[in-house]
Order: sequence, then structure tokens, then C-alpha cells
Amino acid sequence: MTIQWFPGHMTRARRQIQDKLKLIDVVIELIDARLPLSSRNPMIDEILLGKPRLIIMNKADLADPEVTKQWQDYFKAEGQVAFPVDAYTGTGVKDIPNQLKILLKEKIDRQISKGINPRAIRALIVGIPNVGKSTLINRLAGRNIAITGDRPGVTKGQQWIRVGGVIELLDTPGILWPKFEDQNVGYRLAVTGAIKEEILNVEDIAFFAVKYLTSYYWESFQERFELPVDMPHNPDETDDVVAIMEAVGRKRGCLMSGGRVDLEKSSKLLLRELRAGKMGRFSMEAPY
Ligand code: G4P
Repeated sequence: MTIQWFPGHMTRARRQIQDKLKLIDVVIELIDARLPLSSRNPMIDEILLGKPRLIIMNKADLADPEVTKQWQDYFKAEGQVAFPVDAYTGTGVKDIPNQLKILLKEKIDRQISKGINPRAIRALIVGIPNVGKSTLINRLAGRNIAITGDRPGVTKGQQWIRVGGVIELLDTPGILWPKFEDQNVGYRLAVTGAIKEEILNVEDIAFFAVKYLTSYYWESFQERFELPVDMPHNPDETDDVVAIMEAVGRKRGCLMSGGRVDLEKSSKLLLRELRAGKMGRFSMEAPY
């Protein structure tokens, strides 16, 4: 799904989420484990109006586990609960109801001490497009539910999905927007496929990816694309980065007449392989 974020659109998205906040006890904020800050909404604290929140780092199967651990510590130091999940296969998903109960323990205990029988915990999933909201909802629900977007002329009643007896989840997630003003954020989102390639130049996206990955994951990168081990790969040397991109293009047979490398074609191939996890797990930003 590509969404053009204009100020009016953002205001509407914010209002839609805030309307739903009235119905729920807790928010499940979904972020991408490979880029936890860049895949976050810049105004999230304001938007959620102090609602208790569980942060879920989704697509953890694609992220560098060491870096994911660092992010978990980072959020903990910020006083927030965050843990990794792979909504696609379901790893970590079954812990979500328990984590929500722990998060709301005080409130539940207070109700019990007042003699009130606590009702199910009501939750809303929020996150930027493509972060895995529908996948997680389906996973939590344990069956496939049709998640329909806003369609003109169709009024859709809000539905609650029962999860593990103790959770009630709103069936439509809250859609947030990422922070577009920072160009690096845009590139990180594009490398991981969170935003469409067409928004930015594909060769620039690949350049950004190669620069970062050869700097932090040289061995996996070199192995995947069968590059010489001693190939210069100084991320601050544009010539090194371009030479690596060309070498990848030649390896993948992306040549134009005259034997020049077709950088556009090879950039697309490179990004597709990275996103599919062919190079192995990687993260695009680290907290420290
Ligand atoms: P959204 O509702 O937030 O917009 O995201 P959605 O669930 O549609 O997920 C976006 C893409 O991310 C989907 O891939 C989905 O399969 C994939 N995805 C979601 N969670 C995970 C995860 O934990 N790990 C991995 N590896 N992928 C995940 P797609 O290519 O758009 O569709 P498809 O390949 O599933 O058909």
C-alpha cells in the first residue's frame, strides 16, 4: 500500500486513531526490528495521549539478533516494554497476551481490589504501512480475517477479535506515517521495502544500502555476491561503494551493450535479494 502523506491526511489518520483510543485499554505499537526508530511515527507520544503501550519489533526474523537485543535494552532504558516478534511465522506472538497483562497488571489489580470483575483487555494495533499490522492481526486471531481498507461508500462496523480469552483486539489497525523529512529515514525505509522504490531513485537506495551493509556486514555481503575478500570497501569512499555496486551488477549479469553495468537493473536485483533475506539477517540502524 502506498500512501501519500499530506497534512490533511495526517490529521485524519491521527483523528481516526484518537477516536479508537476511547475504546481501548492499551496500544500495540508495531515497528520494524531492522529500523526501530525510522519505522516509528515521529509524533507517536502525542498521538497516543498517554495510553499504555507495548512496542513490538516485528520482522525480527530479518533483523540482526544482536542489534535487536540492543534495541530491547534501549527501549527498556526509556521505560518502555519492547520485544521482538516474527508475525509471519508467529514466533513470539503467543507472548503478546501475557505481556499485555503484565503491562496492565496494576490497573487489573486495582479493579479486583474494588471488587470489580476485570473484563477483557481491549487493544489496538498501530504502525506505519507495511510494518505487518494485518499479518499480526491474522496471526493473533488464529484464522484469516479479511482486513479491508477504507473504501468509499462502505461503512464498516468495528469488530473485536478475541485473542487467548483475555484480549479483545480491534480488527482495523491504526495507520501511522513515518518521518519523511529526514532523507536517511526515507532511504532506510526504502531499503527494507517499507516504502515503494519509485519514491526515491533506485540507484540511490542501493548506494545507501551498499554503503551501510559493506560497513557493518562486509563478510555476509562479500560472500553473498562473491566479491574478492580484499576488495576495498571504505563506506566513506564513493569510488569503493560504486565499484562494489558495479561488481554486483557484473556478477548478476546486468550488462548493457558495450559491457557497461546496468546499475538500475542491478540495484533492483540487489535490493530484492536483500529484502528477501538472501544475504542473511541485517539491521539498518543501531541504538549505540
Ligand atoms: P500492514 O498491514 O502493516 O500494511 O503490513 P502487512 O501485514 O500487509 O505486511 C506487509 C508485508 O510484510 C507482507 O509481505 C507480510 O507478509 C510481511 N511481513 C509481515 N510480518 C512479517 C514478519 O514478521 N517477517 C517477515 N519476514 N515478513 C513479514 P508482502 O510481500 O507484502 O506480502 P506476502 O509476501 O505476505 O504475500
